[in-house]
Amino acid sequence: MVKVAVLGAAGGIGQPLSLLLKLNQNIETLHLYDIVNVPGVAADLSHINTNSTVRSFLGQQNLRTALDGIDIVIIPAGVPRKPGMTRDDLFKINAGIVRDLAAGIADACPRAFVLVISNPVNSTVPIVCEVLKQKGVFDPRRVFGVTTLDVVRASRFLRDADPSISAAEISVPVVGGHSGNTIVPLLSQTTPPLPASLLESRLSEITHRIQFGGDEVVQAKDGAGSATLSMAYAASRFATSLIDAIKGGPSTIEPTFIHLDADPQNAQSIRALGAGDLAYFAVPVQLGPNGVESIVPISTVSEAEAEALVVASEALAKNIEAGIKFVHIS
Ligand code: NAI
Repeated sequence: MVKVAVLGAAGGIGQPLSLLLKLNQNIETLHLYDIVNVPGVAADLSHINTNSTVRSFLGQQNLRTALDGIDIVIIPAGVPRKPGMTRDDLFKINAGIVRDLAAGIADACPRAFVLVISNPVNSTVPIVCEVLKQKGVFDPRRVFGVTTLDVVRASRFLRDADPSISAAEISVPVVGGHSGNTIVPLLSQTTPPLPASLLESRLSEITHRIQFGGDEVVQAKDGAGSATLSMAYAASRFATSLIDAIKGGPSTIEPTFIHLDADPQNAQSIRALGAGDLAYFAVPVQLGPNGVESIVPISTVSEAEAEALVVASEALAKNIEAGIKFVHIS
């Protein structure tokens, strides 16, 4: 049985995510932490008749107890986008929030698996890793940027483009990062392969929709935030796969933005694709009892995908650098 903490549990993602986690029979304890409103969220969820215990922790003075003995920490704390904003615009506020939560994790549960949802993921994951490094407790196999929503969107958008495709069954590798043109869907590498006619006629349109799908939600919510329900689903899917893997159950392949030292050998194929000397990249990984068991190598990409990877890597290098610098100068 697994103990999970959600940091930012009273928010738009935190609430539905905590609901989905409450339904997971492998979770015995669910700690909900936030700086506002969390006692009500926890009281509400605690009436659901699954066996897990839900406890609330309000305010920074309770962060340490919220994290004591925790196996998996999920972080959706921070501000979301409003129309016209990019994920990088969130850096100023979210970088400090994530840095402080990472310090709390290093002190209270240094062996925990850390799932980072707060944007910009391309920078917040390096922030978490740098803090854990400073505290001497960094294990690259245990820190994950949650990019599951990109593959969830990719499979759904492919179904929109061609109703003969099953959204639940098609698997689309999405690599690079988690914002705009750093998101690189490898539509030439789907399982099963896409119909050639679709690849020929609508490739760039579908690629663009996957890269900027988050904007559709931000615009439709018109100032009330970004994706929360689909994001909660995606994070719950990743957490469920990780819990199954650490319990020694069936090991699933999930995409995630990680430090490539998690599997230096297989990282070579990703570096050859376009990651070059970048330390972080979103890749499909095989999960296991220690987190990242291995990076799933990718051998071929199309010419257009290779070009997209060059663009993605240039932008990613800046995002990663911003995260690392932030920890060292703040
Ligand atoms: P929200 O504003 O509805 O909720 C954020 C919650 O974090 C609030 O309850 C707030 O009180 C809490 N919070 C703020 N500072 C905190 C701190 N220091 N400690 C603990 N909790 C704190 O925002 P929403 O919609 O839930 O989004 C959260 C984050 O997730 C945003 O950064 C957003 O950009 C990101 N996101 C990531 C996605 C991904 O695919 N990785 C997709 C969608 C959103």
